Amino acid sequence: MTDLSSDKINDLTARIKKNEGAFLTLIRERLGIIIHPHQKMDLHHTLLEACQKFSLTPEEYLHILTFSSNNSLEFSHLIAGITIGETYFFRDNNQMQLLNDNLLPELIQSKRERDEYTIRIWSAGCSTGEDIYTIAMMLCELIPDYKRWSLQLMGTDINAISLQKATLGRYTQWSMRTITDYFKNKYFTPVNHCFQISPQLRELVNFSYLNLNENTYPSILNGTNARDLILCCNVLIYFDNVSIANLMKKLEDCLVPGGYLLLGASDPVILKETELLQHHSQGLYFSRPAEKQWSPPSNPLLITSANTGAAKPTLVKTTLAPITDLPKHTTPELGLITKLMRESQWQEALNIIDKNIIQGKKTIFLLDAKATALANLGKLSLAIICCHESMSLDPSNKQSYFTHAMILLELNQLTEAETLLRKAIFFDHRFVEAHYQLGLLLFRCKNPEAGLKCFRNALSIAKNEKSDYPVSEFSNLTFKQLVTILENELVIYSKHSDKNNSDGAKQSPGHSSSSRPLA
Ligand SMILES: C[S@@+](CC[C@H](N)C(=O)[O-])C[C@H]1O[C@@H](n2cnc3c(N)ncnc32)[C@H](O)[C@@H]1O
Repeated sequence: MTDLSSDKINDLTARIKKNEGAFLTLIRERLGIIIHPHQKMDLHHTLLEACQKFSLTPEEYLHILTFSSNNSLEFSHLIAGITIGETYFFRDNNQMQLLNDNLLPELIQSKRERDEYTIRIWSAGCSTGEDIYTIAMMLCELIPDYKRWSLQLMGTDINAISLQKATLGRYTQWSMRTITDYFKNKYFTPVNHCFQISPQLRELVNFSYLNLNENTYPSILNGTNARDLILCCNVLIYFDNVSIANLMKKLEDCLVPGGYLLLGASDPVILKETELLQHHSQGLYFSRPAEKQWSPPSNPLLITSANTGAAKPTLVKTTLAPITDLPKHTTPELGLITKLMRESQWQEALNIIDKNIIQGKKTIFLLDAKATALANLGKLSLAIICCHESMSLDPSNKQSYFTHAMILLELNQLTEAETLLRKAIFFDHRFVEAHYQLGLLLFRCKNPEAGLKCFRNALSIAKNEKSDYPVSEFSNLTFKQLVTILENELVIYSKHSDKNNSDGAKQSPGHSSSSRPLA
């Protein structure tokens, strides 16, 4: 950091004030975060620090931020300055009781009754991971035979440094200020005035980068789909009303029917875009209503044009186009399916796919779309049947291997998933999502070196593609967003890889007790 004269600092401060509006707009547009009047002093301080640190004028800093990705050094500095990662174990007593006494026991019971031993919980905006580890501790207490279960716990955040700390799982006394001795002694080991989370808990939780203000979720690709419970606590306070409404709708879509959403006690709530049900018991929480029935699309044209497709299996070739410009399909209905898939409207897409299949148009496109939609809705067995059907129509169809691999990852069948991902890559060496998912899988299997190599492969492929194009037909994720995610994952996991190397820990696929892809 450069030491500046007071004249220079006064000049920078004046120019920061002059450009304040442009900084606020950029922060709102890129992160959805709104800076309230009482936070402006802190923002000015962060901007001044950045100008000194990077030897830039405020105008130059603004320019760099405008054209750099969210994980550039300059942007990371801004994110760290404007987001408060304050969090601790067992943070909100009422919420903890609600979870421990009601929601989690109910969830466990209903899963046992259905013979389904999988629980999927996501902390969105997890900072350094205390709240998702708290849930992990509760689950271990509530499910004595939890090792027989597939506990799929995930924490995501926009701050890669916080996520790096979460993956290391080492906490100061400050994070432990409300934890009881029982939990402290059972799940932590004191190390150099800090507390190291037990490997058993560490293994249960995966962390990854996700900007809640982007359209990259829900998706099976980053594990945000079909969640039984989502915690998004003390995050909405940062957002403007439009972003909050949008975010609540998307979080609703990430839940299984009947799944729960919990917010922080002082988080603003905007339900107008959602069908979420409100519950008031030991605090406010929300649930997604039971499954909706299909209703015909409102545009009658889309129904009458449905009979133009071929009856025998055909591969619908599509050229990927920017998100705003959907690929030209043979029928408007197929275009609509792609659009709905890209908007994560899985059930709506499925209804139209099924209608087409019933009409005798069982194409690879429809089967792949159906498998993807079913997998995203958590209907894994049905999705696998579609993958098999698609593979039998075209044994070299990379998409069906990939979707099947994603389902097996969700079922924790890592060896088989690895084989399928490698097959998908064999059929298309530039299959960026397969490289990325293989990287995540190898991390789960405690092979960080190989995992990092896959991330780097994925990154070099993604960087060579058109940045505003989607990475695949059914995804809203652009290559530019994938580059940001991969660069963040490399930050988070290169540290993890150092640690694993020094521990000398290695495991082969299929022997990991961790339970979900990290994306
Ligand atoms: C106060 S912490 C909350 C931590 C934890 N959920 C809790 O309640 O204790 C807020 C977190 O939201 C994250 N955040 C802010 N904007 C975000 C965005 N656009 N996408 C993802 N995370 C975001 C911040 O980085 C920060 O870690």
